[in-house]
Amino acid sequence: MGKVIAITGKGGTGKTAVSAMLLRHLVKSGKGYRILAIDADPDANLADALGVKVNKTVGDMREFMQESRYTTPPDTDKQKLFEAKMFEILIEEDGYDLLVMGKPEGSGCYCFVNNLLRGIMDKTIDQYDVIIIDTAAGLEHFSRKVIPDLDALLVVTDSSRRGLTTGERIRSMASELGMKYKNMYVIANKVTDSSREKVAENAKSVGLAVIGTIPYDEKLANFDLVGDPLIDLPDDVPSVQEVSRVAKELGL
Ligand SMILES: Nc1ncnc2c1ncn2[C@@H]1O[C@H](COP(=O)(O)OP(=O)(O)OP(=O)(O)O)[C@@H](O)[C@H]1O
Ligand SMILES: [Mg+2]
Repeated sequence: MGKVIAITGKGGTGKTAVSAMLLRHLVKSGKGYRILAIDADPDANLADALGVKVNKTVGDMREFMQESRYTTPPDTDKQKLFEAKMFEILIEEDGYDLLVMGKPEGSGCYCFVNNLLRGIMDKTIDQYDVIIIDTAAGLEHFSRKVIPDLDALLVVTDSSRRGLTTGERIRSMASELGMKYKNMYVIANKVTDSSREKVAENAKSVGLAVIGTIPYDEKLANFDLVGDPLIDLPDDVPSVQEVSRVAKELGL
């Protein structure tokens, strides 16, 4: 099984940006990794950061699987139906595949989507060397054991103390959800020279290890401002360089 890395953290701290840059590093590494990116945020936006147009999500698959109860004959092989649908929603891009969770239509229960997501991951996990999961802020919409065992749980924080409080909450939420991970690290993002030391100090005080410190990056912000995919950022941008360093530290 490949390495599974989940990116979590408070809203707006840069989870999607970090996920996109991590993916960018992996695709460009020349190591020939088989990569799966999962946008597990119901308000999906990883695809935008990757410049990918999404037509089908796991949320849509839920509709289909539920409707199939009425539209397919009783002897239909549900397993085969599931697998066929699964390949339909897996988006194949240059250098990686993308799976988008999306929102369940209608009533707001994520259980069915969660189960489908877990089913897809169980089926595909062995086919990839690295799996990157961009989650929503916190882990609330996951039910137990949706996420497979992780190599690294990354918590992206900005300079605020609240970003780290979210980190602590994620740590307890992960154990409540039965989520297993080898390592949990903080990535401090949008850090300025004046906030750098304080963030490190705060992380230390709550027992969280900082694996990377990404500076506030004008170039990245401008890409997002005009809607250019972050995966197209050039090599010499400070945020890209720091994420690549983190990837190496994670053994990627
Ligand atoms: N290092 C950085 N320098 C400057 N701007 C950044 C940096 N990282 C992220 N941003 C900006 O911060 C905003 C939020 O980033 P992003 O969407 O990646 O956060 P998120 O944690 O995924 O948010 P959400 O919780 O909504 O999913 C974006 O406008 C992005 O351009
Ligand atoms: Mg996001």
